Amino acid sequence: MVREKWGTKLGFMLAAMGSAVGLGNIWRFSFVAGNNGGGAFLLLYLAFVILLGVPLLLAEVSIGRKAESDVVGSFKKLAPNTPWYLTGFFGIASSFLILSFYAVVAGWAIFYFWNYLNGSYFTSPEVGYEGAFGQFISHSWHPIAWTALFMILTIVIVLSGVKKGIEAANKIFMPLLALILIGLAFFSLSLDGASEGVKFLFQPDWTALSDPSIYIAALGQAFFSLSLGMGAMLTYGSYLRKENKLPSAALGIGIMDTFFAVISGLVIFPAVFAFGIDPSSGPPLVFITLPSIFEQMPMGGIVGLVFFFALILASLSSSVSILEVPTAYFMRILGWTRFATSVVMGAIMFVMGIGVSLGFGIWSGVTPIGDLNILDSMDYIASNILLPLGGLSMALLIGWYFSKSEALEATDFTGSSIGQIWYYLVKFVTPVMILLIFLNKLGVI
Ligand code: TRP
Repeated sequence: MVREKWGTKLGFMLAAMGSAVGLGNIWRFSFVAGNNGGGAFLLLYLAFVILLGVPLLLAEVSIGRKAESDVVGSFKKLAPNTPWYLTGFFGIASSFLILSFYAVVAGWAIFYFWNYLNGSYFTSPEVGYEGAFGQFISHSWHPIAWTALFMILTIVIVLSGVKKGIEAANKIFMPLLALILIGLAFFSLSLDGASEGVKFLFQPDWTALSDPSIYIAALGQAFFSLSLGMGAMLTYGSYLRKENKLPSAALGIGIMDTFFAVISGLVIFPAVFAFGIDPSSGPPLVFITLPSIFEQMPMGGIVGLVFFFALILASLSSSVSILEVPTAYFMRILGWTRFATSVVMGAIMFVMGIGVSLGFGIWSGVTPIGDLNILDSMDYIASNILLPLGGLSMALLIGWYFSKSEALEATDFTGSSIGQIWYYLVKFVTPVMILLIFLNKLGVI
């Protein structure tokens, strides 16, 4: 069977940007930053994106392009008879963990979209935004139905195989999303009390850095937001042609992703402070602040409608890349069709998603890790542990298993002086930083 390929390099770029930009930039970024003190978190996050995110992104894509296989197959091919392929299984485990909660949150976004379509701002006179949202997510089957819809949409795109649908959609909605977010940021900044939010985001409170949790949170956010460490970028890279140059692509993806995160911070935090919401209210944050902004805005109903539409598209272009990871692997291993594989994998993730959703209702007392509910626990294991471990393994493969010239060649860096910097970042800085953060969190150092 001939392996599928991207139509053009632009197609790959858009798909990879689509993968990176998603709920992670808007929903996850704002609540993680909110929980971890704002400004100090943002700085750490930016440092991680530059020092380790973009270099690793390049490493991950290059592994896929060189091996032309899925997450497990690529490691088996490039490092035969070594345990490196276990990274692939971590990646597959992460894909199940991540998509099952991602689909739940994206389902909430579809429900909001539906509400705006019906002309409602999703609030209630008795319980307000927060209460209305709480009632919705704690319902036993209502949110699950929206999760199902999102999962079906994801499966349909993945089973169509050809990335034409997503490539085309990305061209329209990425600029659209940027425009909407910039417009919203201006509005949010004009609210009374907005400056508190700007301060929160840009004026670091250095004492926040004394808590080891902030490092692991910023690391996890960098991995999650750049779709790193799981093999999604690796798998996308495996559909690239050899003649497509990688360094500029990786940089472009990193810049876009960061841009979307910072702009969403400028939408969310001014409004959070203007409306007196607690910035550390966790995952629901965005779903409570945004409707309150929209209700204040002239034509907010339409803006809300367009915003949630764009958010759904952004989520879809990300979820597709997550489902593609196990799909590519199991298709090859089981010899199933793309159709059957994506349906079965998606169905399993949906069933896991039911558990996540119930974690906000009848299972709200279930806290697998510490006081974290089901969603937060799955996210913690995947984003803060499995993804960085996956990234560590990829960095070690490129830095220590490959020869230097192989590493530079795989990334189109032969003869480049920036390539030298990249090489040492991936060989030393990335692994050391990841290890230090883990040891620090474990209380060893
Ligand atoms: N990066 C996406 C977002 O920010 C989510 C995502 C897509 C992802 N593919 C991934 C996260 C692979 C981790 C690994 O919404």
